[in-house]
Amino acid sequence: MSQYKDTVLVSGGAGYIGTHTAVALVEAGYDVVVIDNFSNSEPSAVEGLEKIIGRKVAFEEVDTCDLEALRGVFERHEFSTVIHFAAYKAVGESMTEPLKYYQNNLVSYMNILQLMKEFKRPNVLFSSSATVYGDAEVLPVTEETPRQPATSPYGNTKQIAEDILRDCCRAYEGFFGIALRYFNPIGAHPSALIGELPRGVPNNLIPFVTQTAAGVRECLSVFGNDYDTPDGTCLRDYIDVLDLAKAHVAAVDRMVDHKMKEKYEIFNVGTGTPVSVLELITRFMKATGVDLPYKIVGRRAGDVPAVWADTALANKELGWKAERDLDDTLRASWNWEKRVRGIK
Ligand code: UD1
Repeated sequence: MSQYKDTVLVSGGAGYIGTHTAVALVEAGYDVVVIDNFSNSEPSAVEGLEKIIGRKVAFEEVDTCDLEALRGVFERHEFSTVIHFAAYKAVGESMTEPLKYYQNNLVSYMNILQLMKEFKRPNVLFSSSATVYGDAEVLPVTEETPRQPATSPYGNTKQIAEDILRDCCRAYEGFFGIALRYFNPIGAHPSALIGELPRGVPNNLIPFVTQTAAGVRECLSVFGNDYDTPDGTCLRDYIDVLDLAKAHVAAVDRMVDHKMKEKYEIFNVGTGTPVSVLELITRFMKATGVDLPYKIVGRRAGDVPAVWADTALANKELGWKAERDLDDTLRASWNWEKRVRGIK
């Protein structure tokens, strides 16, 4: 008998959500095999994860687009479940370099699926995104809310990947899939040993916020205050990455314990609470005591005015709900930024 509940392959396990999920899996009694090609992460992330769990993890530097290299991982390690995080995620870049996104995000994914089938490993957990809902007519969005046509190649890779997983689960015996649709992941581990490490100019709000607070950027630009929302700025559902990581554990439990009701299932992973950009800025300043210079600028192309999750299905079926307090989350983001910048 193994001392572990099971083993999970975590692709992209050196990344932001991957590292936090690997920690949560280990804390829940799973063993993990972590693979990453460091295309958008650093070896220090694996070191941080190992420090938190107090032991080494099985790590291999592998590009998931390399089928033969990936096959080696399957040959060397037993696992029932893969969580596939490895993907590019910059929406803007995907508009100017669509092939880079289709090539990387879909080839790596097909390789994973192909090998899961070949090696008869049953469970695939896929990182999807609330981006599939686009500009939804009715809020909050449930898993039944129709997907909107993707407005970026990045978003399209998420939709295509969901459909591929659905089709595989339908066609192949002993093949099960869960897609988790993440809302806006923020925060960092309280140890500040792992967190989001954007290379170059960030794409998302929180790295801009913490970098501005750290003085790396002069001023935060708020993209539009003329939306049809209470304060005119966009509404999002900001979910703490620790809560998000726990949702993965709940989904893995569901697969490993044979609790799935369908062969392919989808869950929203959010808090269910909309927060505006201005509210987030105010909360950040209050929670950290740091001044955040900001200015209102024009809307950013492609932004939807509002999106937040109906979390009833995840609450009921996964037995999971977001618990972390937003102020703690924002403080954790700030502590992480301070550590990265060497600020006391
Ligand atoms: C973005 C992507 C989404 C992707 C997700 C991954 C777009 C249009 N959407 O979501 O597809 O799945 O990241 O994390 O790129 N904001 C500012 N100033 C800034 C940065 C952002 O005001 O400097 C605002 C945005 O207008 C938005 C909110 O902050 O209202 C959140 O932005 P962001 O963190 O980029 O997330 P999304 O756009 O929701």
